Amino acid sequence: FKVDWDAADAEKGGYDYFMHKEIHEQPKALRDTMTSRISSENDDIVLDQIKLGKDEMEKINKVYIVACGTAYHAGLIGKFAIEKYARIPVEAEIASEFRYRNPIVDEKTLLIVLSQSGETADTLAAMRLVRERGGRVMAITNVIGSTVSREADDVMYTWAGPEIAVASTKAYTTQLACMYMIAIHLGLLKETITKEYADRIRLALLKAPEEIEYVIKQEERIKEFAYKHFKVEDMFFLGRGLDNYVAMEGSLKMKEISYIHSEAYPAGELKHGTIALVVDDTVIIALCTQEELFEKMLSNIKEVKARGAYIMAIAQEKNKSIEREADEVFYIKDTEDDVASIATVVYLQILAYYLSVARGCDVDKPRNLAKSVTVE
Ligand code: G6P
Repeated sequence: FKVDWDAADAEKGGYDYFMHKEIHEQPKALRDTMTSRISSENDDIVLDQIKLGKDEMEKINKVYIVACGTAYHAGLIGKFAIEKYARIPVEAEIASEFRYRNPIVDEKTLLIVLSQSGETADTLAAMRLVRERGGRVMAITNVIGSTVSREADDVMYTWAGPEIAVASTKAYTTQLACMYMIAIHLGLLKETITKEYADRIRLALLKAPEEIEYVIKQEERIKEFAYKHFKVEDMFFLGRGLDNYVAMEGSLKMKEISYIHSEAYPAGELKHGTIALVVDDTVIIALCTQEELFEKMLSNIKEVKARGAYIMAIAQEKNKSIEREADEVFYIKDTEDDVASIATVVYLQILAYYLSVARGCDVDKPRNLAKSVTVE
């Protein structure tokens, strides 16, 4: 009798890599993260461990969202949502920068930290700095009992379950869900959004798991794209508004696990530098999910196409005109622009995954990287 599998393989549940399994777990992880907090039947938002109430919120005049890596990218989307819904100035910042620049912090400051592990050294240091200066700290983390969860004033858990692959996937999408729920909650507390608008976003959020399932169904096509382009050395991710933040996360995933040099750029900045790098067959991933910015993105796509770039675009299904400009189009289901980020990023995760596999990389354990950075 020979045992030809080990415990780690068993835990992969039939997938070759944990990252692949974790990508597929996202619909469930999102449902688990949202179920006890929002529902389609009533408009309550129950943010369990968050005690921050209306009176305290009135006192807050500045919000910082601080994190590292992928969690920082979720923070950028949180900044967008909180500013839009709660009309309060928010700065999203990388923890290792924030902690060393003597930021303006007092008892009117709210710090939101995001950390999958709850143990990242720089994030913890940022938290301690804010608490020492009298600010309030809200934490979004995936690990119960982690240092971040113990030291924060308010805690909200992402119910993503254990994330093993170094490259974060389900922790990120569940962090996005938390950021949106917090933003709606703060907007309602401050009465800066209408109940109707809050309802629209809440219902759109609840549909996100299905929208991810739809993206996962396109996996074969993404795999084909990856196997066609796996020899590329550089890749550029372009987007505007929320898409720019999603592009940053897509680019990070790409470099982390496939070692393809990649950069994310706000498409409007192209003319200020990046376009100099666009030559024949440069691969561009153009994110075009934001209705208001769609025409602007089309013009940017035309600009890079005129220089010979090969364009893969991601858009909402209703915007079929993208097919006239892009070489390859992947659609997400029509949704509220604000939450399109959740489904869009899944395309980028799958793309990075297959490029990594096609290039023969160790997907789950990329060189030089650790799951949790607990020292500086
Ligand atoms: C490392 C991991 C990333 C993660 C980052 C922050 O770089 O490889 O996947 O996003 O740390 O980790 P945290 O646990 O604080 O979210």
